[in-house]
Amino acid sequence: MEPWWRSAVFYQIYPRSFADTGGDGVGDLAGIRCRLDYLQWLGVDAVWICPFYRSPMTDFGYDVADYCDVDPMFGTLGDFDRLLAEAHARDIKVVVDWVPNHTSDQHPWFVEARRARDSPKRDWYVWRDGPGTGAGGRPNNWKAAFGGDAWTWDQATGQWYLHLFLPTQPDLNWRNPEVEEAMHATLRFWLDRGVDGFRIDVVQGLTKDPALPDDPPGQLLPHAAVNDCADTHAVLRRLRQVADAYGGDRVLVGEVYLLSTPTVARYVGNGDELHLAFDFTPLYEPWDLGAWRGRIEEVEEELAPVGGWPTWTLSNHDNPRHRTRYGGSERRARAAAVLLLTLRGAPFLYYGEELGLEDALVPPDRVVDPGGRDGCRSPMPWDASPGHGWPGAAPWLPWAPEPEVRNVASLRADEGSILHLYRRLLAARRSSPALHGGAWRPLEAPAGVLAYERADGDDRRAVLVNFGEAPATVALEGPWEVEVDSDAALEGTRFRGRLAGDAAMVLRPA
Ligand code: NOJ
Repeated sequence: MEPWWRSAVFYQIYPRSFADTGGDGVGDLAGIRCRLDYLQWLGVDAVWICPFYRSPMTDFGYDVADYCDVDPMFGTLGDFDRLLAEAHARDIKVVVDWVPNHTSDQHPWFVEARRARDSPKRDWYVWRDGPGTGAGGRPNNWKAAFGGDAWTWDQATGQWYLHLFLPTQPDLNWRNPEVEEAMHATLRFWLDRGVDGFRIDVVQGLTKDPALPDDPPGQLLPHAAVNDCADTHAVLRRLRQVADAYGGDRVLVGEVYLLSTPTVARYVGNGDELHLAFDFTPLYEPWDLGAWRGRIEEVEEELAPVGGWPTWTLSNHDNPRHRTRYGGSERRARAAAVLLLTLRGAPFLYYGEELGLEDALVPPDRVVDPGGRDGCRSPMPWDASPGHGWPGAAPWLPWAPEPEVRNVASLRADEGSILHLYRRLLAARRSSPALHGGAWRPLEAPAGVLAYERADGDDRRAVLVNFGEAPATVALEGPWEVEVDSDAALEGTRFRGRLAGDAAMVLRPA
């Protein structure tokens, strides 16, 4: 039987911004639970919830101080169990975030490691003397992800510690077997509770070249974006064994933030490492036919031969939303939804994209993220009321534009809305083996149009995406009927070859 994740559509939830029940302006686990009916109505198969563990929140949860507890801001372990049970009752899988590259500097492991050079936990992190002694000479030239150096001098013990991200996020030493065992135990903690898998943070960072060589002079990227040490693959094979010991249906989705499809593809190993590896290259492509055709063809060339299942992401919590990147046009966002949900592979939706949200404009005095990512993390507007479904205090970040009309309740009441388009696409995908699992093949198309076929046995669909603003005429062999139209105008009619500008369609044989 095919594993569930091969036909699943994932929905990413940034818990601070999704739904609040406590009235403090920060979302919580009970809030997610209360909105499960919405997610079921929308038709997603799985949710991925960004970190909700105990954390000082210097990186809003990606600085974990206890992997086995819920931060009080988000609720309790009991709230998590209830959320999981109620999601499962609706056939929605739950994938949680796991942050193995680094802990918080407030994690008891680091507090102990930092205590003294002879601490039994010292080697759980990456400590080095400088090439020179004292704070002057860093061990190498690596840059941290949000600016500054990847090394911080610990005055009390007279050594540097490594952090690919903030100084409050010291890197764990995955070459120490005790670290590996302790981290496996954190996985088992959540697997025993019944989670369906993990989204794994910064997979490519887990092991480093032991010689810690300098990055090339003039390299502008932080080291986290280039670290790709071969030893990580053995770490992943052992992680896979931990997951597979739970019956084989728990999924490992890895963030492999190396912007190269062939490199990312290696992280699925021989079917014994990650199940799914995020390929973020499309996040940095413009809304352009040539760019997208290149992306899709490369993914097909690299992943299809090794049986890998691609992933497709247009937006996430680390980058401007795609509607904003594509110039703010809702029509393009609609066409992009058709593309995302009809490619071969696992689509990852980012909460709010189904409302056509743009990034919020965040005034300087409301900026809170050290990486400048606040705009894409704005609160989910649930209704047209002044609080948009957030009780009590105003949410922690400003609203995206037009929350009075661009909210769940208003768009749900409008069958022509982008929200209903997502729902129809999800339903079409679910009911068609060609769309959720079939092969992908390009079709002839006029300038500006991307056309492809998805096929599984007798089940076939054609997909047309017009990247241009001008209408196009597409000649396809055989009679076709419009199943989904990004303009919501022609569904159920015979396809007559006409495709509006900035529009997309799913066709089925008539
Ligand atoms: C990737 C996460 O997506 C991002 O939000 C975080 O800041 C870094 N990893 C560090 O954990």
